[in-house]
Amino acid sequence: MAKITLSIIKADIGSIGGHIKPSQRLLQVVENYIKEKRGNLIIDSYIGHTGDDIAILTTHKKGVLNEKIHKLCWNAFITGTDMAKKQGLYGAGQDLLKETFSGNVKGMGPAIAEMEIEERAAEPFLMFVADKTDPGAYNLPLYLAFTDPMYTPGFILSPQIRKGFKFRIMDVSYTQADKVIELNSPEEIYDIAALLRDNERFVVEGIWSRDSGEQAVSVSTTRLHNIAGKYVGKDDPVMLVRTQKDFPATGEILSPYTIGHYVAGFMRGSHSGPLMPVKINSSISFFDGPPVVSCLAFCLKDGKLTEPVDTFDHPYWDYVRNNVSRKAEEIRRQGFSGAAMLPMSELEYTGVMETLKELEKRFIIRKKQS
Ligand code: 13P
Ligand code: 13P
Ligand code: MG
Ligand code: MG
Repeated sequence: MAKITLSIIKADIGSIGGHIKPSQRLLQVVENYIKEKRGNLIIDSYIGHTGDDIAILTTHKKGVLNEKIHKLCWNAFITGTDMAKKQGLYGAGQDLLKETFSGNVKGMGPAIAEMEIEERAAEPFLMFVADKTDPGAYNLPLYLAFTDPMYTPGFILSPQIRKGFKFRIMDVSYTQADKVIELNSPEEIYDIAALLRDNERFVVEGIWSRDSGEQAVSVSTTRLHNIAGKYVGKDDPVMLVRTQKDFPATGEILSPYTIGHYVAGFMRGSHSGPLMPVKINSSISFFDGPPVVSCLAFCLKDGKLTEPVDTFDHPYWDYVRNNVSRKAEEIRRQGFSGAAMLPMSELEYTGVMETLKELEKRFIIRKKQS
């Protein structure tokens, strides 16, 4: 059995009423494009949206960063952008930051999470799509699910999981090339934590089982402001996670999302807000947020997908959503002050820099009084 590749390629190419959700027509155009042009290139596909972002999941045998697969999705987004413009959608083509396609979509705007896998007899996996946040949003949930028996009792109960995991972490502030480090849990969990505390700089790119060597996780690492040089919208990261057997169980992977931890990306990508686990195809509302994450579960057989199951569509998560709403309200009460707004390192890509430059001229430096 040849290896199977799972690819998620995701972009915001326009939405209704601000940064809320794409139109049905736009989704249809993207879906039809993939259907019509797929030929024998892909085995299966799924297309959905979370907030204003459209994610295309494909399964194929071409490996990661494959030119044909990436071009298919890029062209689907280009074709969609024409429709978004025709309908007058807001931010048409927002995440398509380069004019010409060259090789793959890395560094062109869309978010990518891909994995080439040896398909197991049963291959359960999860597709995460987040809106109004950045790739560091997954740092804490991944750290907890892949190192902590409080979230993953598999560390106590399963000999395979006990062996731990290898984390590959990227320094996304280094823009000349990919700068990565590999660290092993459990021996190096404090080093892993020392990096992952800084969600805007250090981001989990992938995680591997130390028992089987197989890849468990792949996260998109795109920071749009690094490509555009200014704020053009939030990164809105996607992630693939394989579950069960040599990996944490699906419920263990989901359990940290009960926290609703504060992440970057609320309103104008410039505020902190709690990450709310939502049902698939949810829209966006309060203060252009709150930051949301959706998660679909699939099984795979010979590259064919089952229908998806919406993991956050369960009464338990209604309770969580209420708690997260309270956390959102709480931080919003302090407006622009302190922890509610992101640090200057994030805001330096926005218009506030002009204001600060002007004000700098009006500062006076007092003469020392003797
Ligand atoms: P506009 O300045 O285009 O209204 O966008 C604000 C915003 O929503 C940030 O992307
Ligand atoms: P998106 O990145 O989801 O387009 O949101 C942009 C924004 O600034 C909303 O306030
Ligand atoms: Mg948008
Ligand atoms: Mg978005």
